[in-house]
Amino acid sequence: MTFPKGFIWGAATSAYQIEGAAREDGRGPSIWDMFCRKSDAVWQEHNGDIACDHYHRYREDVALMKGLGLHAYRFSIAWPRVLPRGVGTLNKRGLDFYDRLTDELLTAGITPYVTLYHWDYPLALYKQGGWLKPDSSDWFAEYTAVVVDRISDRVKNWFTFNEPQIFVGMGYQEGSHAPGDRLDFTKVLTIAHHVLLAHGKAVQAIHSRAKSEAKVGYAVALNEVAVPAFTREEDIRAARQVLFAVEKEDCMNNAWWTDPVVFGRYPEDGVKLFEKALPYIGSNDMRIIRQPLDFLGLNVYFGKKYCAGPDETPKPIPFEPGHAHTSFHWPVVPESLYWASKFYYERYTLPIIISENGMSTIDWIGLDGAVHDPQRIDFLHRYLRELKHACTDGIDVRGYFLWSILDNFEWAAGYRERFGIVYVDYPTQKRIVKDSACWYKEVIASNGEIL
Ligand code: FCB
Repeated sequence: MTFPKGFIWGAATSAYQIEGAAREDGRGPSIWDMFCRKSDAVWQEHNGDIACDHYHRYREDVALMKGLGLHAYRFSIAWPRVLPRGVGTLNKRGLDFYDRLTDELLTAGITPYVTLYHWDYPLALYKQGGWLKPDSSDWFAEYTAVVVDRISDRVKNWFTFNEPQIFVGMGYQEGSHAPGDRLDFTKVLTIAHHVLLAHGKAVQAIHSRAKSEAKVGYAVALNEVAVPAFTREEDIRAARQVLFAVEKEDCMNNAWWTDPVVFGRYPEDGVKLFEKALPYIGSNDMRIIRQPLDFLGLNVYFGKKYCAGPDETPKPIPFEPGHAHTSFHWPVVPESLYWASKFYYERYTLPIIISENGMSTIDWIGLDGAVHDPQRIDFLHRYLRELKHACTDGIDVRGYFLWSILDNFEWAAGYRERFGIVYVDYPTQKRIVKDSACWYKEVIASNGEIL
């Protein structure tokens, strides 16, 4: 049995994690350039100055993607490369890069999926107050318009934001990601609200300016998918309840980010819990935030099992000693992909795209000159079988983007974690196709039949 006809097999990256060329061709600094220079912020004080040097090697990288038979490639645009100060004067040379990349992909027969925001916020805007400012959503709409005007004749698939709950939670509440702030909760929720408004205005900008038919989505993180431990109805209810509950005073939950975008309202439990910290919500805001979407992107890596306790209260089930973990210490829970797709599809009734899934392993170049990564193959095999199950169960899953095509700069973990199916030898920038890439090629060629 195969995946549905027309299923999109892809891979994903983001600008700061692969491009390098941090000070070239007029690119302005981002909050990640600043954060990487703080002591103890990033593992071994690594930074994205050079990264995978994709800015110069994109042709070679696109050729690799073509060799694997990828249908689609999800990449992000670096806002400060396009608008070095975030707004105002645009940097033609920066924009030219995305133009060339788009053409290269299309010539290779690969469909571009563009993420407008994957965390590299312009430093100049941050210094003016960043997402805390009421104008911040208009700044994002201005940037969106510039990009759409230039490449929407060829780019038809868009993601507004990548994992808003992660960059807001880790960047502005925990301080473990750029810009490294620890703000009070009212400010965190204000930022969240402005990001949601920016999403809405970006969708409007895409639809009003796109030169060809545009499909727009939004990619959320499911940092820990609640999965039912057993198939009893009450366990499924328990897992669903945990997945969409707002229970803690932090913004790294799920419903706070997707309910407004799809339903035009914040979840009730969150509104009650956050009562004292709620931001100002303008009378028209929810109408702006709720825009028609074509798909929902889910970034899925791991999960946690739950069952229903005697009074139906969800009870977490600890992992058995020795349970499989990736090198990032993320537990391997393949069912996450099935349940994430199912629960999100049932709640929001939008087509699902798995916008990220993959694992980091401890890869190195073997004595034979190859990179063998059997664990990644096994991981992907297990997860993709669950996704296939979701499709056969009637869940409308349209595509899968493997994270990542290349090893790259893994945020606060620097270059320690290797997520690629293509190995990058950073000192020489040599690319070596790992065993998992060859395996993924077979998966794509058979439309998942070999799984
Ligand atoms: C996600 C991010 C992506 C990458 C993977 C491993 O949270 O969106 O950039 O770092 O995790």
